[in-house]
Amino acid sequence: MRIAFLNPQGNFDKNSSYLTEHPDFGGQLIYVREVAMELSKLGVNVDIFTRKIDDNDWPEFKYDFDNYDGYDNLNIIRIPFGGEKFLRKELLWPFLKDFAQGIKSYYEKNNIKPDFITTHYGDGGIAGAIFEKMSKIPFSFTAHSLGAQKLDKLGVNIDNFEDFDNEYNFSIRINAERIAMNRSAFNIVSTNLERFEQYAHQLYNGAIDINDDSKFKVIPPGVNINIFSNISKEIDNKFWIEIEKNLIRDIKDTNKQYIVLSSRVDEKKNHIGAVKAYSQSKELQEIANLVIFVRGIKNGFEDIDKLSEKERKILLEIKEIIEKNNLIGKVSIFDVPGQEELASAYRYFVRKKSIFVLPAFYEPFGLAPIEAAAVGMAIVATKNGGPTEAFDNGNYGVLIDPFDTNNIIDGMIEGLKNFDKYSKLGKERVLKNYTWEITAKRYLENIEKYLKNPIKKDKYLEIPEYFFDSSKKIDNIILIEYLKNKNAR
Ligand code: F6P
Repeated sequence: MRIAFLNPQGNFDKNSSYLTEHPDFGGQLIYVREVAMELSKLGVNVDIFTRKIDDNDWPEFKYDFDNYDGYDNLNIIRIPFGGEKFLRKELLWPFLKDFAQGIKSYYEKNNIKPDFITTHYGDGGIAGAIFEKMSKIPFSFTAHSLGAQKLDKLGVNIDNFEDFDNEYNFSIRINAERIAMNRSAFNIVSTNLERFEQYAHQLYNGAIDINDDSKFKVIPPGVNINIFSNISKEIDNKFWIEIEKNLIRDIKDTNKQYIVLSSRVDEKKNHIGAVKAYSQSKELQEIANLVIFVRGIKNGFEDIDKLSEKERKILLEIKEIIEKNNLIGKVSIFDVPGQEELASAYRYFVRKKSIFVLPAFYEPFGLAPIEAAAVGMAIVATKNGGPTEAFDNGNYGVLIDPFDTNNIIDGMIEGLKNFDKYSKLGKERVLKNYTWEITAKRYLENIEKYLKNPIKKDKYLEIPEYFFDSSKKIDNIILIEYLKNKNAR
């Protein structure tokens, strides 16, 4: 079996040298790399196709081929298209036919053929549709992030549309996504919520039927269990001393259990909800201290000038609640700089029978609670969004209503009092459902099933001419209608 991954944006190299250093080098690259590696371990020949870039800022991306050490049947193949220099993903659209053509030529030259293509993001998706038209090789589409939701989040309306479209090329992106989801063999989503809410967006009407089971496979991404594990690592010797220094600095009774908030400081994550809940419950304060990880500052009570304005505002509000409610000596705020440190910190706090709390107003997937559960933290997470599915309606962790302070208090007490139960159940749940090996196995199962019995529709949307000849205009009637109606509402 040979499976190709189409990921035109970002890039891949042996050492993952630039992961997270550019907005296009983020989570999607980790996803593709991990699924590709696990598939290759299952004996599949894997080709990751991405863009060849000859740019001094990223010298590793200028070679035609690369690989990951120890993965002999996994190739990274860089196809030249769209010039030599790096282009952000929003500017790749006119060149994707050349990407598809380059892939076709690569296979012809080497006299091999993939059995199936997986495509990633709208740009990979449209390239996959073009490639399928040329080769008849079926493809799956994994959106990672859909343009319709981004457009809504950015507050795009009919009056500002042109400016946003110039920057983000929404007209082209929405068209590409419509084609990708419509012409794919199936679409891979992380949660049912993604299928029934995100794909149900009006901008995808006529391209996809969200009730068509054959078109959706729910395959959640995994956590890196090599990093997020409860087995002690060398880093613990050093990092735990660091943690203890912070706790001794800030906390009166360090022997209590802990409530840990570790997400990015962002209004949506609702740190304030958790701090307020803590401040209003004597019972909680009796049992546990509160710890907040904030990236980039050593002491959350002093160094907040280094934070962005938005983060500072939230921390100032937290400080105010702490001071007003006499919580000094019960709360500690400090830096946990990277993934290895985060996992190490979880290992430390698991030994203190601590809970991980995510009271976000809405969490689309919620990788963070899954990572924390993999190490053994007991989970108390928002009921709005992914965690409800991940923790099976509260069977494997406590779900809370982020808008209800009493419910947050009760949830935290429940998690703390039943730490052993939720720690064990949460870990079991993750190891059984959320590892990259499982993600890869589900990809493979679905691909094999499809290849045995390909389901074809009577009719597919035509790929707009723009994608073959970028001098042609892209049709954005659906988008304009949507924005007009939105304005009228
Ligand atoms: O890896 C980067 C990523 O996580 C990708 O999924 C996607 O390219 C991007 O971030 C988010 O996409 P957008 O903001 O364009 O919706």
